[in-house]
Amino acid sequence: MKIAVLPGDGIGPEIVGEAVRVLEALKRDGLPVETETALIGGAAVDACGDPLPDATLEITRQADAVLLGAVGGPKYDVLPREQRPERGLLRIRKALNVFSNLRPAILYPELAAASSLKPEIVSGLDIMIVRELVGDIYFGEPRGIEVRNGERVGFNTMIYSESEIRRIAHSAFRIAMKRGKRLCSVDKMNVLEATQLWRDVVIEVSAEYPEVELSHMLVDNAAMQLVRNPKQFDVMVTGNMFGDILSDAASMLTGSIGMLPSASLDANGKGLFEPIHGSAPDIAGKGVANPLATILSVAMMLRYSFDRSAEADRIENAVKKVLASGLRTADIYQPGTEKVGTRQMGDAVIAAL
Ligand code: NAD
Ligand code: IPM
Ligand code: MN
Repeated sequence: MKIAVLPGDGIGPEIVGEAVRVLEALKRDGLPVETETALIGGAAVDACGDPLPDATLEITRQADAVLLGAVGGPKYDVLPREQRPERGLLRIRKALNVFSNLRPAILYPELAAASSLKPEIVSGLDIMIVRELVGDIYFGEPRGIEVRNGERVGFNTMIYSESEIRRIAHSAFRIAMKRGKRLCSVDKMNVLEATQLWRDVVIEVSAEYPEVELSHMLVDNAAMQLVRNPKQFDVMVTGNMFGDILSDAASMLTGSIGMLPSASLDANGKGLFEPIHGSAPDIAGKGVANPLATILSVAMMLRYSFDRSAEADRIENAVKKVLASGLRTADIYQPGTEKVGTRQMGDAVIAAL
Protein backbone atom coordinates (compact mmCIF):
# COMPACT_ATOMS: atom_id res chain seq x y z
CA MET A 1 0.00 0.00 0.00
CA LYS A 2 1.91 3.02 -1.31
CA ILE A 3 0.54 6.27 0.06
CA ALA A 4 1.56 9.70 -1.17
CA VAL A 5 1.44 12.16 1.71
CA LEU A 6 0.93 15.84 0.86
CA PRO A 7 0.84 17.91 4.07
CA GLY A 8 0.44 21.33 2.42
CA ASP A 9 0.15 24.56 4.40
CA GLY A 10 -0.96 26.05 7.71
CA ILE A 11 -2.20 23.31 10.03
CA GLY A 12 -1.72 20.78 7.18
CA PRO A 13 1.64 19.43 8.43
CA GLU A 14 0.39 19.29 12.03
CA ILE A 15 -2.76 17.26 11.34
CA VAL A 16 -1.18 15.06 8.66
CA GLY A 17 1.65 14.33 11.09
CA GLU A 18 -0.83 12.75 13.49
CA ALA A 19 -2.60 10.81 10.73
CA VAL A 20 0.73 9.40 9.54
CA ARG A 21 1.57 8.34 13.11
CA VAL A 22 -1.73 6.44 13.17
CA LEU A 23 -0.74 4.70 9.92
CA GLU A 24 2.67 3.87 11.40
CA ALA A 25 0.99 2.34 14.44
CA LEU A 26 -1.06 0.12 12.12
CA LYS A 27 2.11 -0.74 10.23
CA ARG A 28 3.70 -2.02 13.44
CA ASP A 29 0.69 -4.35 13.64
CA GLY A 30 1.37 -5.67 10.16
CA LEU A 31 -0.37 -3.29 7.75
CA PRO A 32 1.89 -3.26 4.66
CA VAL A 33 2.02 0.49 4.18
CA GLU A 34 4.72 2.76 2.75
CA THR A 35 4.48 6.54 2.67
CA GLU A 36 6.22 9.11 0.51
CA THR A 37 5.88 12.80 1.28
CA ALA A 38 5.65 15.49 -1.42
CA LEU A 39 5.01 19.20 -1.73
CA ILE A 40 1.73 20.85 -2.65
CA GLY A 41 0.17 24.29 -2.25
CA GLY A 42 2.04 27.23 -0.77
CA ALA A 43 4.83 24.96 0.47
CA ALA A 44 5.45 23.95 -3.14
CA VAL A 45 5.20 27.56 -4.35
CA ASP A 46 7.88 28.52 -1.82
CA ALA A 47 10.11 25.65 -2.92
CA CYS A 48 9.74 25.85 -6.69
CA GLY A 49 7.13 28.41 -7.74
CA ASP A 50 4.47 25.84 -8.69
CA PRO A 51 1.61 24.75 -6.37
CA LEU A 52 1.61 21.29 -7.99
CA PRO A 53 5.15 20.38 -9.10
CA ASP A 54 5.57 17.60 -11.68
CA ALA A 55 7.47 15.56 -9.10
CA THR A 56 4.44 15.62 -6.78
CA LEU A 57 2.08 14.61 -9.54
CA GLU A 58 4.40 11.75 -10.46
CA ILE A 59 4.56 10.51 -6.85
CA THR A 60 0.77 10.61 -6.55
CA ARG A 61 0.35 8.75 -9.85
CA GLN A 62 2.71 6.00 -8.63
CA ALA A 63 0.89 5.76 -5.30
CA ASP A 64 -2.19 3.65 -4.53
CA ALA A 65 -3.78 6.49 -2.54
CA VAL A 66 -3.11 10.10 -1.56
CA LEU A 67 -3.43 11.66 1.89
CA LEU A 68 -3.66 15.44 1.82
CA GLY A 69 -3.71 18.06 4.58
CA ALA A 70 -4.81 21.49 3.42
CA VAL A 71 -3.46 24.29 1.26
CA GLY A 72 -3.56 28.07 1.21
CA GLY A 73 -2.90 31.03 3.42
CA PRO A 74 -2.95 34.83 3.43
CA LYS A 75 0.67 35.00 2.28
CA TYR A 76 -0.35 33.52 -1.08
CA ASP A 77 -3.55 35.48 -1.65
CA VAL A 78 -1.69 38.08 -3.74
CA LEU A 79 -0.36 35.53 -6.25
CA PRO A 80 -1.70 35.22 -9.78
CA ARG A 81 -4.45 32.58 -9.90
CA GLU A 82 -2.34 29.88 -11.60
CA GLN A 83 0.23 30.05 -8.80
CA ARG A 84 -2.23 30.04 -5.92
CA PRO A 85 -2.06 27.06 -3.54
CA GLU A 86 -5.73 26.28 -4.22
CA ARG A 87 -4.92 25.81 -7.92
CA GLY A 88 -2.57 23.02 -6.89
CA LEU A 89 -5.41 21.27 -5.09
CA LEU A 90 -7.86 21.75 -7.97
CA ARG A 91 -5.25 20.51 -10.47
CA ILE A 92 -4.47 17.34 -8.51
CA ARG A 93 -8.18 16.54 -8.16
CA LYS A 94 -8.59 17.00 -11.90
CA ALA A 95 -5.42 15.10 -12.81
CA LEU A 96 -6.46 12.11 -10.71
CA ASN A 97 -10.05 12.49 -11.95
CA VAL A 98 -11.41 11.97 -8.43
CA PHE A 99 -14.89 13.16 -9.32
CA SER A 100 -16.81 11.62 -6.43
CA ASN A 101 -16.20 13.42 -3.15
CA LEU A 102 -17.80 11.73 -0.14
CA ARG A 103 -18.25 13.95 2.89
CA PRO A 104 -19.89 12.10 5.77
CA ALA A 105 -21.36 14.21 8.56
CA ILE A 106 -21.71 11.98 11.61
CA LEU A 107 -22.46 13.20 15.11
CA TYR A 108 -20.60 11.22 17.72
CA PRO A 109 -22.95 11.12 20.75
CA GLU A 110 -20.23 12.55 23.01
CA LEU A 111 -20.12 15.70 20.88
CA ALA A 112 -23.84 16.46 20.96
CA ALA A 113 -23.21 19.45 23.24
CA ALA A 114 -20.50 20.79 20.90
CA SER A 115 -22.93 20.98 17.98
CA SER A 116 -24.32 24.40 17.20
CA LEU A 117 -27.80 22.87 17.12
CA LYS A 118 -29.88 21.50 19.97
CA PRO A 119 -29.04 17.87 20.89
CA GLU A 120 -32.52 16.61 19.98
CA ILE A 121 -32.16 18.04 16.45
CA VAL A 122 -28.77 16.43 15.81
CA SER A 123 -28.53 13.32 17.99
CA GLY A 124 -27.94 10.28 15.80
CA LEU A 125 -27.10 12.41 12.77
CA ASP A 126 -25.49 10.37 9.99
CA ILE A 127 -25.64 11.88 6.53
CA MET A 128 -23.45 11.48 3.47
CA ILE A 129 -22.92 14.41 1.15
CA VAL A 130 -21.76 13.31 -2.29
CA ARG A 131 -20.14 16.29 -3.98
CA GLU A 132 -19.13 16.29 -7.64
CA LEU A 133 -15.50 17.42 -7.50
CA VAL A 134 -13.96 18.02 -10.92
CA GLY A 135 -16.58 20.00 -12.83
CA ASP A 136 -19.03 22.88 -12.41
CA ILE A 137 -18.22 26.57 -12.13
CA TYR A 138 -14.86 25.61 -10.56
CA PHE A 139 -13.51 24.49 -13.93
CA GLY A 140 -15.95 25.97 -16.48
CA GLU A 141 -14.68 28.13 -19.36
CA PRO A 142 -14.78 30.97 -20.21
CA ARG A 143 -13.66 32.55 -16.98
CA GLY A 144 -11.77 35.69 -16.13
CA ILE A 145 -11.76 39.37 -15.38
CA GLU A 146 -11.73 41.78 -18.32
CA VAL A 147 -12.73 45.27 -19.30
CA ARG A 148 -16.05 45.61 -21.08
CA ASN A 149 -17.66 48.95 -21.88
CA GLY A 150 -15.08 50.79 -19.82
CA GLU A 151 -15.43 48.78 -16.62
CA ARG A 152 -14.08 45.50 -15.27
CA VAL A 153 -16.31 42.47 -15.29
CA GLY A 154 -15.62 39.14 -13.60
CA PHE A 155 -17.17 36.01 -15.06
CA ASN A 156 -17.28 32.24 -14.61
CA THR A 157 -19.19 29.49 -16.33
CA MET A 158 -21.35 26.95 -14.57
CA ILE A 159 -21.31 23.93 -16.84
CA TYR A 160 -22.06 20.23 -16.51
CA SER A 161 -22.12 17.62 -19.25
CA GLU A 162 -24.53 14.74 -19.23
CA SER A 163 -21.71 12.22 -18.71
CA GLU A 164 -20.33 14.14 -15.74
CA ILE A 165 -23.75 14.18 -14.07
CA ARG A 166 -24.43 10.56 -14.92
CA ARG A 167 -21.27 9.23 -13.26
CA ILE A 168 -21.71 11.18 -10.02
CA ALA A 169 -25.38 10.18 -9.93
CA HIS A 170 -24.42 6.50 -10.22
CA SER A 171 -21.88 6.99 -7.47
CA ALA A 172 -24.52 8.53 -5.18
CA PHE A 173 -27.19 5.92 -5.95
CA ARG A 174 -24.71 3.11 -5.22
CA ILE A 175 -23.89 4.70 -1.87
CA ALA A 176 -27.58 5.16 -1.11
CA MET A 177 -28.13 1.45 -1.84
CA LYS A 178 -25.58 0.60 0.87
CA ARG A 179 -27.18 3.01 3.36
CA GLY A 180 -30.79 4.02 3.98
CA LYS A 181 -31.81 3.98 0.27
CA ARG A 182 -32.84 7.62 0.30
CA LEU A 183 -31.16 10.12 -2.00
CA CYS A 184 -31.81 13.85 -2.15
CA SER A 185 -30.41 15.62 -5.22
CA VAL A 186 -29.73 19.31 -4.65
CA ASP A 187 -29.86 21.83 -7.50
CA LYS A 188 -31.05 25.29 -8.50
CA MET A 189 -33.14 24.25 -11.49
CA ASN A 190 -35.57 27.10 -10.99
CA VAL A 191 -32.86 29.50 -12.19
CA LEU A 192 -29.88 27.68 -13.71
CA GLU A 193 -29.96 25.59 -16.90
CA ALA A 194 -26.85 23.63 -15.90
CA THR A 195 -28.75 22.35 -12.90
CA GLN A 196 -31.94 21.71 -14.89
CA LEU A 197 -29.86 19.21 -16.85
CA TRP A 198 -28.53 17.93 -13.52
CA ARG A 199 -32.04 17.16 -12.34
CA ASP A 200 -33.09 15.60 -15.66
CA VAL A 201 -30.09 13.27 -15.76
CA VAL A 202 -30.38 12.27 -12.09
CA ILE A 203 -34.01 11.29 -12.79
CA GLU A 204 -32.89 9.25 -15.81
CA VAL A 205 -30.25 7.42 -13.77
CA SER A 206 -32.77 6.74 -10.99
CA ALA A 207 -34.55 4.27 -13.28
CA GLU A 208 -31.64 1.89 -12.64
CA TYR A 209 -32.11 2.10 -8.87
CA PRO A 210 -35.81 1.44 -8.26
CA GLU A 211 -35.18 0.67 -4.58
CA VAL A 212 -33.79 4.12 -3.88
CA GLU A 213 -36.28 6.82 -2.96
CA LEU A 214 -35.15 9.91 -4.90
CA SER A 215 -36.13 13.44 -3.93
CA HIS A 216 -35.03 16.85 -5.21
CA MET A 217 -34.41 20.05 -3.32
CA LEU A 218 -33.40 23.56 -4.33
CA VAL A 219 -30.07 24.49 -2.79
CA ASP A 220 -31.31 27.46 -0.76
CA ASN A 221 -33.98 25.30 0.85
CA ALA A 222 -31.41 22.52 1.36
CA ALA A 223 -29.20 24.91 3.33
CA MET A 224 -32.18 25.84 5.47
CA GLN A 225 -33.32 22.21 5.93
CA LEU A 226 -29.80 21.18 6.98
CA VAL A 227 -30.04 23.43 10.01
CA ARG A 228 -33.80 22.98 10.57
CA ASN A 229 -34.05 19.20 10.50
CA PRO A 230 -30.82 17.58 9.25
CA LYS A 231 -31.90 14.04 10.14
CA GLN A 232 -34.41 14.05 7.27
CA PHE A 233 -31.42 13.37 4.97
CA ASP A 234 -29.66 10.10 4.25
CA VAL A 235 -27.52 10.74 1.14
CA MET A 236 -27.35 14.12 -0.61
CA VAL A 237 -25.83 14.55 -4.07
CA THR A 238 -24.94 17.89 -5.57
CA GLY A 239 -22.51 19.80 -7.76
CA ASN A 240 -19.06 21.04 -6.89
CA MET A 241 -19.91 24.50 -5.58
CA PHE A 242 -23.15 23.72 -3.76
CA GLY A 243 -21.44 20.69 -2.21
CA ASP A 244 -18.54 22.80 -0.99
CA ILE A 245 -20.87 25.16 0.82
CA LEU A 246 -23.39 22.65 2.15
CA SER A 247 -20.68 20.38 3.58
CA ASP A 248 -19.08 23.18 5.59
CA ALA A 249 -22.53 23.98 7.00
CA ALA A 250 -23.18 20.31 7.77
CA SER A 251 -19.82 19.99 9.53
CA MET A 252 -20.90 22.32 12.30
CA LEU A 253 -23.80 20.01 13.14
CA THR A 254 -21.20 17.42 14.19
CA GLY A 255 -19.49 19.81 16.58
CA SER A 256 -16.70 21.17 14.40
CA ILE A 257 -15.35 21.35 10.90
CA GLY A 258 -12.31 19.67 12.44
CA MET A 259 -14.32 16.42 12.59
CA LEU A 260 -15.22 15.96 8.91
CA PRO A 261 -13.12 13.64 6.73
CA SER A 262 -13.53 13.09 3.03
CA ALA A 263 -12.79 10.60 0.29
CA SER A 264 -12.44 11.70 -3.34
CA LEU A 265 -12.65 8.69 -5.62
CA ASP A 266 -12.08 8.05 -9.30
CA ALA A 267 -14.00 5.49 -11.36
CA ASN A 268 -11.78 2.65 -10.08
CA GLY A 269 -11.90 3.52 -6.40
CA LYS A 270 -8.44 5.07 -6.33
CA GLY A 271 -8.62 8.10 -4.16
CA LEU A 272 -7.42 11.22 -2.51
CA PHE A 273 -8.30 11.59 1.15
CA GLU A 274 -8.41 14.88 3.01
CA PRO A 275 -10.28 16.67 5.78
CA ILE A 276 -12.92 19.03 4.40
CA HIS A 277 -11.49 22.01 6.27
CA GLY A 278 -8.74 24.36 5.15
CA SER A 279 -5.31 25.37 6.39
CA ALA A 280 -6.79 27.36 9.32
CA PRO A 281 -4.17 30.15 9.27
CA ASP A 282 -5.65 31.59 12.47
CA ILE A 283 -4.47 28.59 14.53
CA ALA A 284 -1.57 27.29 12.40
CA GLY A 285 1.68 26.55 14.24
CA LYS A 286 0.03 26.57 17.67
CA GLY A 287 -0.40 22.81 18.03
CA VAL A 288 -4.12 23.15 18.80
CA ALA A 289 -5.78 22.02 15.54
CA ASN A 290 -8.10 19.03 15.65
CA PRO A 291 -6.43 16.12 13.80
CA LEU A 292 -9.51 13.87 13.90
CA ALA A 293 -10.87 14.83 10.45
CA THR A 294 -7.53 13.82 8.93
CA ILE A 295 -7.24 10.66 11.03
CA LEU A 296 -10.79 9.72 10.01
CA SER A 297 -9.78 10.39 6.38
CA VAL A 298 -7.19 7.62 6.82
CA ALA A 299 -10.02 5.33 7.94
CA MET A 300 -11.93 6.25 4.77
CA MET A 301 -8.79 5.49 2.74
CA LEU A 302 -8.47 2.04 4.27
CA ARG A 303 -12.17 1.35 3.71
CA TYR A 304 -12.62 2.72 0.19
CA SER A 305 -9.22 2.32 -1.49
CA PHE A 306 -7.84 -0.77 0.20
CA ASP A 307 -10.93 -2.70 1.26
CA ARG A 308 -9.48 -2.87 4.78
CA SER A 309 -12.66 -2.33 6.75
CA ALA A 310 -11.26 -4.04 9.88
CA GLU A 311 -8.47 -1.45 10.17
CA ALA A 312 -10.88 1.36 9.27
CA ASP A 313 -13.17 0.22 12.07
CA ARG A 314 -10.22 0.15 14.43
CA ILE A 315 -9.45 3.80 13.74
CA GLU A 316 -13.07 4.90 14.02
CA ASN A 317 -13.54 2.97 17.25
CA ALA A 318 -10.35 4.47 18.64
CA VAL A 319 -11.69 7.96 17.87
CA LYS A 320 -14.97 7.12 19.63
CA LYS A 321 -13.07 5.79 22.63
CA VAL A 322 -10.95 8.94 22.88
CA LEU A 323 -14.04 11.16 22.69
CA ALA A 324 -15.75 9.02 25.33
CA SER A 325 -12.71 9.46 27.57
CA GLY A 326 -13.38 13.20 27.54
CA LEU A 327 -10.36 14.48 25.59
CA ARG A 328 -11.13 17.45 23.34
CA THR A 329 -9.19 19.81 21.11
CA ALA A 330 -10.18 23.45 21.53
CA ASP A 331 -12.72 23.43 18.67
CA ILE A 332 -14.86 20.75 20.36
CA TYR A 333 -14.08 21.67 23.96
CA GLN A 334 -16.96 21.89 26.45
CA PRO A 335 -16.74 22.65 30.17
CA GLY A 336 -16.23 19.37 32.01
CA THR A 337 -14.02 17.87 29.31
CA GLU A 338 -10.22 17.93 29.10
CA LYS A 339 -8.60 20.24 26.57
CA VAL A 340 -5.65 18.75 24.68
CA GLY A 341 -3.48 19.77 21.73
CA THR A 342 -3.03 18.20 18.31
CA ARG A 343 -0.19 15.91 19.37
CA GLN A 344 -1.91 14.68 22.56
CA MET A 345 -5.04 13.91 20.56
CA GLY A 346 -2.91 11.86 18.15
CA ASP A 347 -1.24 10.08 21.07
CA ALA A 348 -4.64 9.25 22.57
CA VAL A 349 -5.99 7.80 19.30
CA ILE A 350 -2.88 5.65 18.89
CA ALA A 351 -3.15 4.44 22.48
CA ALA A 352 -6.83 3.60 21.91
CA LEU A 353 -6.09 1.66 18.73
P1 NAD B 1 -10.63 26.93 7.19
O1 NAD B 1 -11.40 25.68 7.07
O2 NAD B 1 -9.16 26.84 7.03
O3 NAD B 1 -10.91 27.58 8.64
C1 NAD B 1 -12.20 28.01 9.03
C2 NAD B 1 -12.28 28.04 10.56
O4 NAD B 1 -12.30 26.71 11.05
C3 NAD B 1 -11.07 28.72 11.21
O5 NAD B 1 -11.49 29.43 12.33
C4 NAD B 1 -10.20 27.55 11.61
O6 NAD B 1 -9.38 27.79 12.73
C5 NAD B 1 -11.23 26.47 11.94
N1 NAD B 1 -10.68 25.13 11.68
C6 NAD B 1 -10.50 24.55 10.47
N2 NAD B 1 -9.94 23.35 10.61
C7 NAD B 1 -9.78 23.14 11.93
C8 NAD B 1 -9.25 22.06 12.72
N3 NAD B 1 -8.77 20.94 12.16
N4 NAD B 1 -9.23 22.20 14.06
C9 NAD B 1 -9.72 23.30 14.65
N5 NAD B 1 -10.24 24.36 13.97
C10 NAD B 1 -10.26 24.28 12.62
O7 NAD B 1 -11.27 27.97 6.15
P2 NAD B 1 -10.79 29.45 5.73
O8 NAD B 1 -10.30 30.18 6.93
O9 NAD B 1 -11.89 29.99 4.94
O10 NAD B 1 -9.58 29.19 4.74
C11 NAD B 1 -8.21 29.30 5.10
C12 NAD B 1 -7.34 28.88 3.93
O11 NAD B 1 -7.54 27.49 3.67
C13 NAD B 1 -7.67 29.60 2.62
O12 NAD B 1 -6.46 29.85 1.97
C14 NAD B 1 -8.49 28.59 1.85
O13 NAD B 1 -8.39 28.75 0.46
C15 NAD B 1 -7.87 27.30 2.29
N6 NAD B 1 -8.75 26.14 2.22
C16 NAD B 1 -8.18 24.97 1.82
C17 NAD B 1 -8.90 23.81 1.83
C18 NAD B 1 -8.24 22.54 1.41
O14 NAD B 1 -7.02 22.50 1.31
N7 NAD B 1 -8.96 21.48 1.17
C19 NAD B 1 -10.23 23.83 2.26
C20 NAD B 1 -10.80 25.04 2.66
C21 NAD B 1 -10.04 26.19 2.65
C1 IPM C 1 -12.52 22.29 -0.03
C2 IPM C 1 -11.91 23.65 -0.28
C3 IPM C 1 -11.49 23.78 -1.72
C4 IPM C 1 -12.76 23.70 -2.58
C5 IPM C 1 -10.69 25.03 -2.11
C6 IPM C 1 -9.53 25.27 -1.19
C7 IPM C 1 -10.21 24.95 -3.52
O1 IPM C 1 -12.78 24.66 0.11
O2 IPM C 1 -11.83 21.29 -0.23
O3 IPM C 1 -13.68 22.22 0.40
O4 IPM C 1 -13.46 24.70 -2.75
O5 IPM C 1 -13.03 22.60 -3.07
MN1 MN D 1 -14.53 23.93 1.17
